[in-house]
Parts: sequence; structure tokens; C-alpha cells
Amino acid sequence: MRILMVCLGNICRSPLAEGILKLKVRQNNLDWKVDSAGTSGWHEGDLPDKRSIEIAAKNGLDITDQRSRKFVRADFEDFDLILAMDSSNYQNILALAQNESDKDKVKLILNYAYPDQNRAVPDPYYDNGFPRVYTMLEKACQDIVQTYV
Ligand code: 4NP
Repeated sequence: MRILMVCLGNICRSPLAEGILKLKVRQNNLDWKVDSAGTSGWHEGDLPDKRSIEIAAKNGLDITDQRSRKFVRADFEDFDLILAMDSSNYQNILALAQNESDKDKVKLILNYAYPDQNRAVPDPYYDNGFPRVYTMLEKACQDIVQTYV
């Protein structure tokens, strides 16, 4: 399984999702590839946001090996699942899809826990909602592992 986590900046939400899922992959001895990207490219090459690094560290997770990158069309070939944090990310990814197979790979990450509800992982960049986002992503990643293992 190859999973790509996607948000807007690839500095707050999707780096946490990548780090949390990678830890679960290791703990469960899974042969999965996990990466993350942002639809905007505004923070290309940047470390995750300090507040994401902090909340991850509080939970025993080091995400400082990550650097922001932009989502590109080739990601449809390189990944089996492309998981969006909110409906805006979802639409931005779908706009780059070239066929039905591309589109079928794109899902909202919280739909594993809450099927068909189209819930969003809220953007914590402006409201500092990092602890809540961490808890949501921890549960989402647990649900993803349970779905595919
Ligand atoms: P993210 O959060 O999409 O979870 O990485 C954001 C990061 C940066 C900006 C917005 C959201 N920004 O406006 O630069």
C-alpha cells in the first residue's frame, strides 16, 4: 500500500498524518510507503510548522526529517491512496485527476472513521488547534490501519 497525505501547505496537518501513520506502519511491521504533500506549494522545502513539531514531540514522534513539497500529477501514479484533510484539498486534488482511476484514489481521511460524513480535519494554522488535530489524526490513522490490515 502506498499512501499520500495531502493538505494545503504540507506544514501543519499532513506532516502529522504522515508521521503518525509511519509510526503505526513500523509498529505493525507493514510494507507500506507513506508520504505527504500540499496542494499549494507555498512552503516548498520548509520544515513542518513549529507547532506541529511540538505536538508531535509531546507524543513521542519526531517529524523533523520532513520537508514540504507540492502535490503533483505524478502522485496519482506513485500512490494507491491520496488522503485529503478537507473538502478544499479534495477538490484541488481532483482538479488534477486525468481519469476515473485517479479520482477513485482520492478520499477524505476522516471518512474511514465517519463513513460518508465528509468531515474535515480543521486547518490549525490560524487558530492553534494543534492538540485537537493531533487527536483526530491519531484516530484516523488507527482506522486506516484497521481498514487495510
Ligand atoms: P496545512 O496548514 O494545510 O495544514 O499545512 C496551513 C499551512 C499554511 C497556510 C495555510 C494552512 N498558509 O496560508 O500559509
